[in-house]
Amino acid sequence: MKTFSIGNIKLKNPVLLSPMVDVTDLPYRLICKKNGAALSYTEMLHIESLIQIQNNNPKSIRLIDKIKTTKKEFPVGIQTTGRSVVEFKQASKILHQLVPKKFNLIDINCGCPSHLTLDNQSGAYLLNNPKIISEIISFLKDENFIVTAKIRKGYDKDNPLKVSKIIERAGADAITIHGRLANQGRSIPADWSIIKKAKKNIGIPVIGNGDINSPKKVEEMLDIADGAMIARAAIGNPLIFKNALYYLKTGKEKEFSFKENIKQFNDYLSLSKRYDLIDLTRIKYLGSNFIREIDHASSIRNDVMKLKSIEEIESFIKPLSK
Ligand SMILES: Cc1cc2nc3c(=O)[nH]c(=O)nc-3n(C[C@H](O)[C@H](O)[C@H](O)COP(=O)(O)O)c2cc1C
Repeated sequence: MKTFSIGNIKLKNPVLLSPMVDVTDLPYRLICKKNGAALSYTEMLHIESLIQIQNNNPKSIRLIDKIKTTKKEFPVGIQTTGRSVVEFKQASKILHQLVPKKFNLIDINCGCPSHLTLDNQSGAYLLNNPKIISEIISFLKDENFIVTAKIRKGYDKDNPLKVSKIIERAGADAITIHGRLANQGRSIPADWSIIKKAKKNIGIPVIGNGDINSPKKVEEMLDIADGAMIARAAIGNPLIFKNALYYLKTGKEKEFSFKENIKQFNDYLSLSKRYDLIDLTRIKYLGSNFIREIDHASSIRNDVMKLKSIEEIESFIKPLSK
């Protein structure tokens, strides 16, 4: 299987797990890795949050969970964003504490369209201000980090080539392109033509993202890009990685039973306990995604929402896996 490297990190295959808020915590990354994901990322953590952790700010206690990691999940990236290189310079100490000891690379989010992030002039705001992206990447490269950037095809108009070239010139080791504008909802299909164009025009690895929801789509993305990054289709379905890798090898899809998928959720629960990362809201959200394919899913989901502890969730799920 054709794969690629990011800096000195050789990926074992070209299929990646997208960074996702409230999804890609350490246990979820581990189960996706076990099923074949070659690289995963934390959810986006604003650089201001990392500075809070660096300063032992009491507000940062809840953030510590978000930077938990284990060497078992390597390679893994930490995703962050910010409004200027000044903040990254202020965060230099914590970045060096985290990378490469706990994370292998730093990914700069240049695509988050949430109001909070845009008001902060970071995330997708940076797409209209590529000079700032360039300054951040150049600084991080001067500090010897492996750096990637995740962009969209533009803020409100296409400019992926201009931004991709700036990111490449700044020294980034790879780029991920999500084929939607920042102001486009998920109902609008991702435009893969811009990913293809970027691949033809820049020399660093290009990872394509947007609407990859089947092994076939993974293969199609790999026809035009070096890597295929999956987000929504992996929520409640980490087996998509196993299925995609099987498909890339054999040209056939593998059928997984509902029980096998529930087993993955059980593993997620065990890992959440092992790493002391028990966030019931997140666990219930993920759990309801694991069961979304079965009959009466919505009434089961309502029952799950009423559960009050991880043990209650485990007992509830147990009969479903038999
Ligand atoms: C629940 C959720 C949380 C997300 N959080 C992040 C994030 O923290 N950082 C990021 O770069 N993208 C985030 N995204 C965007 C995805 O990484 C991805 O770019 C987008 O969903 C398109 O891929 P897909 O069509 O495979 O879902 C998030 C998406 C979802 C659905």
